[in-house]
Amino acid sequence: MKKFLKIVGIVIASIIGIILCLVAWVMFTDVPSYPPKSLSIQIPTDSLTLHTGKVIVEGRCAYCHLGTDNKLSGRQMAPASDPFGEYSSKNITQDKTYGIGSYTKEQLAYFLRTGINQHGKYIGPWMASVLLSDSDLGAVIAYLKSDSPLVQPSSANPQGLQPNFLLKALLKFGAFGPLKYDEKPVATPSPENTVAFGKYVATARYSCYECHSNSFETNDQYEPEKSIGYFGGGNPIPDNQFKTTLSANITMSPTTGIGKWNYDQFMRAVTTGERPDGKVLSAAMPRLHALDEQELKAIWEYLRTVPVIENKVAR
Ligand code: HEC
Ligand code: HEC
Repeated sequence: MKKFLKIVGIVIASIIGIILCLVAWVMFTDVPSYPPKSLSIQIPTDSLTLHTGKVIVEGRCAYCHLGTDNKLSGRQMAPASDPFGEYSSKNITQDKTYGIGSYTKEQLAYFLRTGINQHGKYIGPWMASVLLSDSDLGAVIAYLKSDSPLVQPSSANPQGLQPNFLLKALLKFGAFGPLKYDEKPVATPSPENTVAFGKYVATARYSCYECHSNSFETNDQYEPEKSIGYFGGGNPIPDNQFKTTLSANITMSPTTGIGKWNYDQFMRAVTTGERPDGKVLSAAMPRLHALDEQELKAIWEYLRTVPVIENKVAR
């Protein structure tokens, strides 16, 4: 009996020892770093693609990066009660010290593909995409390097995300890490192929699916249509006051989605935030006022092909 208790004691002590070592490893060693790289990239100069770059940055990046000085100087993104603690986005103006003025176009391209920044640090899943076409990626970078007032130098200095225990653990156990990018060319589907183009616009270009599927954690960044609850809504989205609204079901269910809407009602909701019943959508839904008709019509046609999900989202 005594011998048995002794063995049990040793086993328990070893388990506790191993757990303490793991905790210490998570807490006191550096988060993983990755070799920073550059990608050679074509920066488009035609006015149509440049316009797309402007719409992507002003519609999508500005949602998280617009600061109080009306430049992309960063803002607080989450309150202290967030599981990752209080954190902010960063200054992505052309300031060489506080912004991203010291990034080359090629370093930005690699960062926006993988999430690995110019110092080899993984900065999170918000910006990176392996699906954005090469010409759209080039257009985003052209805009960030342009003379738009939004990206002129600002000395605001929000600190970004400081890894707490949870984030360190996720990074170290590989649950949270850079995107795998094979460096193969990525093309924009031809707008003539309306449904394929619509899918591209609703996923890679404006990331509608990221907010409109079940949750950020279960989204599939390589094959968006494999995301749980694809376009069925219910994902809690914080606005810039941290007030959370569940994203809407935008599949074509006539009862729980937008199956009874017509194209004009859809276009109005996406560009101005006004619903057919006259209600105004929460600020958690970006106002994508600069999307052009070709893009909006293509998203609409694509959504009509997406499998219907019956998910009644509490409004
Ligand atoms: C959902 C919110 C969100 C969106 C959308 C977003 N970002 Fe960010 N971005 C962040 C946060 C948060 C950080 C800071 C992360 C950190 O410090 O770990 C950040 C950091 C960055 C950085 C800093 C890299 C560095 O080295 O410090 C760049 C560059 C950047 N974002 C560019 C973009 C671009 C370009 C877009 C649009 C294509 C974009 N972001 C869209 C939230 C967002
Ligand atoms: C940052 C997250 C986010 C992104 C990106 C986003 N949405 Fe939304 N969207 C929401 C939220 C949250 C709501 C619900 C707002 C409310 O209930 O007031 C919403 C509501 C809507 C509605 C209204 C549906 C209804 O029943 O009222 C439509 C239509 C819509 N979004 C389409 C789109 C399209 C198309 C895109 C991409 C071009 C897109 N959204 C991108 C968060 C987002």
